[in-house]
Amino acid sequence: MSHADQLIRKAAERDVLFGVVGLGYVGLPLAYELVCAGYRVLGYDINDRVVNSLMSGHSHIKDISDAQLAEMLKDKRFVATTDAARLAEPDAISICVPTPLSKFKDPDVSYIVAATGAVKATLRPGQAVVLESTTYPGTTREVMQPALEETGLTVGEDFFLAFSPERVDPGNATWHTRNTPKVVGGVTADCTRVVAALYQPAIETIVQVSSIETAELVKLLENTFRSVNIGLVNEMAIVCDKLGVDVWEVIDAAATKPFGFMKFTPGPGIGGHCIPLDPHYLAWKMRTLNYKTRFIDLASEINSQMPAYVVEKVAHALNAERKAVNGSNILVLGVAYKRDIDDVRESPALDVIRLLEGSGANVSFHDPYIPTIREDGHVHEGVDLTAKLLASMDAVVIVTDHKKVDYQMVMDNASLIVDSRNVTNGLVKTKARVVTLAASTRAAAEVMV
Ligand SMILES: NC(=O)c1ccc[n+]([C@@H]2O[C@H](COP(=O)([O-])OP(=O)(O)OC[C@H]3O[C@@H](n4cnc5c(N)ncnc54)[C@H](O)[C@@H]3O)[C@@H](O)[C@H]2O)c1
Repeated sequence: MSHADQLIRKAAERDVLFGVVGLGYVGLPLAYELVCAGYRVLGYDINDRVVNSLMSGHSHIKDISDAQLAEMLKDKRFVATTDAARLAEPDAISICVPTPLSKFKDPDVSYIVAATGAVKATLRPGQAVVLESTTYPGTTREVMQPALEETGLTVGEDFFLAFSPERVDPGNATWHTRNTPKVVGGVTADCTRVVAALYQPAIETIVQVSSIETAELVKLLENTFRSVNIGLVNEMAIVCDKLGVDVWEVIDAAATKPFGFMKFTPGPGIGGHCIPLDPHYLAWKMRTLNYKTRFIDLASEINSQMPAYVVEKVAHALNAERKAVNGSNILVLGVAYKRDIDDVRESPALDVIRLLEGSGANVSFHDPYIPTIREDGHVHEGVDLTAKLLASMDAVVIVTDHKKVDYQMVMDNASLIVDSRNVTNGLVKTKARVVTLAASTRAAAEVMV
C-alpha cells in the first residue's frame, strides 16, 4: 500500500497521531478539534511556559477553557512538549507558528523556517506536513518544500505537503474551527487528497483547491477583502463627518438592501495578527514582481490613520470645554483589538494611548479582559471601572465595544465620551456629552464641537 493510501486508511480508522507545531490562538483550538475527532495529538511549542501551563491543565487561550483542556489531557489524548525530537512520532504535522511583519512591513517567515527545520530534522517516509500560518503565495513551495526535500525524501511520494489556512475567529461563538469550512491545497494531487482525508474527521467541510498557491491566496483574499472594506467604511465615516451625516444610519439603511451589499462598520482602526498584517504579505510578494497593490496600500493607509482621527476627536471635544489634551485625565475604555477577546496585539488602542500620552494626557485604561498591557518594556496596569473613576475623568474614549461593559453606567457618570464604536447609540442620554467618529444628527444636535 502506498504511503498516501496508508495515511488515508489511518485517518478513517482514527489511528493517527497528529502533531501541532505552535500552540497559540490557532494551534490549540485545532489540537482540540483533532482530539475530539478521535485522534491523539502531540503539541510542540518552543515556549516552555506555554507547554508547562497546558500540561498542568491551564489554557492560555480564551477560546479553549480549562474544562476543554481537561478533556484533551484525559487518557493522554493530548500531550504537549518542547522536545523537537518527538516530531518523528506524528503521522501528520500542522504548523501554526506566527507570521509577523518586520519593522519595514516585510514578511517575517523566520518562524516558518525554524518550524520547518524542526520538522525536517526528523522527517520520515509516510509523514504529512501542513502549513496553517498565513503567508505570501509561494512560501510552501519555495521555502518549505526544498528544505524538506533536502532529506532525500520526495514530496507526493515519501511525504506529503499542503497549505491549509486557519480561519479561526477568536471570540466568535458561532463559527469555530470545526464548523468553518477548511481549504486545502497540496503540492501534488496526492498531497491534497491525503491532507483532506486527515482533516476530514475534525472539520465539517473540506474545500479542496487545485494548487498550494491557490490555498495561500484564498486566505490573503479573505483578509484583504476585510481590510479594504473596513478602509472604505472608515473613509465613509470621515466623509459623513464632513457632511454632518450619521454614518451608522447610512450603513444600517444601506444594509437593508438584500443583495450586493455587505455591512462593515467604522472604528478606531484595525488590530490583531491578521487584518493589519496579512495584506502586506501579498503587497510584498507583488512588489517582488514589480506590481503595486493599490487597494491594499490605500486601505492600510486609511485604517492606520484612524487612531489619530480618534485622538483628533478627543482634542476637539476637550477644546469645546476650554481644555487641552495636555494635562487632561483620559480613560481609554477597551484595549483589546476587537470585542469580547483578550488579545491586544496590534490593537488601535495602543496607538490611541501612545498619541494621547504624546500630547501630555494622563491616560489610564480599563478592559474587562486585559488587566495589564506590556509594551516596549513598560507595564500599564488597568484600572477598575467605577462611577468615581468615571467622574474624575476629563474624557472617556471608547475604543473596544466589549459586551461586558455597562455603557449606561458610563453615560451616567462620565462628563465627556468619545465613542469610536457607536456603542452608546440608543442608550439613555444622562450626564455625558457624547462625540462619535462621524457627526451624527443625534450628536450634532446635542453637541456643538
Ligand atoms: N489569531 C488568529 O485569529 C489567527 C486566525 C487565522 C490565522 N492566523 C495565523 O495563524 C498563525 C499563528 O497565529 P497565532 O495567533 O496562533 O499565533 P500565537 O502567537 O498565538 O501562537 C504561536 C505559537 O507558536 C509558538 N512558536 C513560535 N515559533 C515556534 C517554533 N519554531 N516551533 C514551535 N512553536 C513555535 C509560539 O511560542 C506560540 O505559542 C499566524 O500565521 C497567523 O497569522 C491567526
